[in-house]
Amino acid sequence: MLSGKNILIGITGAIAAYKTLELIRLFKKNNANVKVVVTPNALNFVTKTTLEALSQNSVDVEQFNIREYKPEHISLCDGSDIFVIAPASANTIAKMTHGICDNLLTSVFCAYKKPVVVAPCMNTNMWENPSTVKNIETLKSRGIKIIEPESGFLACGTEGKGRLADINIIFDTVKEILLPAQILKGKKIVITAGGTKEDIDTVRYIGNYSSGKMGIALADNAYKLGADVVLISTAEVKKQYKVINVQTAEEMYQAVKTEFKDAYSLIMAAAVSDYRIKNKSDKKIKKTGGTLHLKLVENPDILKEMCKIKNNNQVIIGFCAESENLINNAKEKIKNKGCDYICANDISKKDIGFSSNFNELYIIDKEYNIIHIEKTDKNNAAFQIIEKIYGKSK
Ligand code: CTP
Repeated sequence: MLSGKNILIGITGAIAAYKTLELIRLFKKNNANVKVVVTPNALNFVTKTTLEALSQNSVDVEQFNIREYKPEHISLCDGSDIFVIAPASANTIAKMTHGICDNLLTSVFCAYKKPVVVAPCMNTNMWENPSTVKNIETLKSRGIKIIEPESGFLACGTEGKGRLADINIIFDTVKEILLPAQILKGKKIVITAGGTKEDIDTVRYIGNYSSGKMGIALADNAYKLGADVVLISTAEVKKQYKVINVQTAEEMYQAVKTEFKDAYSLIMAAAVSDYRIKNKSDKKIKKTGGTLHLKLVENPDILKEMCKIKNNNQVIIGFCAESENLINNAKEKIKNKGCDYICANDISKKDIGFSSNFNELYIIDKEYNIIHIEKTDKNNAAFQIIEKIYGKSK
């Protein structure tokens, strides 16, 4: 179930550390790779040998055990998909809240940018202490997932809230985060990517700077959410879903026409050349001096043509890259092309769009409602586009 997922488990000095051994087994049984980082105090409750045997990996506790020229806390961040701290003691929670990095576990947390799940475990009075209450609120407000402790008989001999949550609950929470709901299951989505190339002669072409990164990120995310993806791309990529490699606008048009017939949706993220050479030369054109005149003829407008033939259940999303009057031009384009949504980005900003790894977008629908996606990496932008559009439609 969790095959290919890398889970980093953090264990702090709390009695429930022994329960984390079962949690590690559960992750391993589900084919996840598990790496464990412990605070020095955690080793009062569980041994390194047990953790290494169960995780089938080395266990880290030392802050300055530098491997492969990368500080340990950074390589642990890079190599995992999620950080699960269970049990999390009141002390470690306080350090996490205040950015204290006095051991490897807290340093990893401070540098961690992916999802973090925290399962606290402590005495009831410690859990109810105003500092702990405030720290938990702060962590929650920063997007950290807190799995609240349960009530019951505690190791210190008292009854109350503070017992580590059931490990099955921790496991299910991690699973939900790593395996998002398959909102596109059974739906075919056709996505175009890259910039088309129109031959001038056998060695030259008219092209554009589109890298294809946005379209590929959309295809990857749609696939992760269960879609039956067909990527029609000018960039050559190998994927687990179907990829049709094309070069010219005409080739892209033919492929889109064929694939869109039985599709639920089309996303035209490609930068399609509006024109092609009228009579492309089948030999290399030689320099003759003076001016060279090339005659251009219009290419089909793929987006517009597909909007003409789409049925009411099909959703078509266009893209528009503008260097001025972004929103007004985008509104004009959605009207002119007839698509359901348009994702507009401002190409006058050099740090986003085209070849960049980042994008900032505005999703506009037919009623001109606008959703702003703030500057983020293209993978995240793609996820947000998919979630915001397909999450609410049909
Ligand atoms: N598009 C298309 N076929 C074309 C040109 C564009 O399918 N021949 C699609 C793009 O994939 C994009 C949308 O239309 O989804 C808008 O592309 P853009 O180049 O911004 O629009 P154009 O209609 O070409 O307008 P202009 O270049 O004049 O701004």
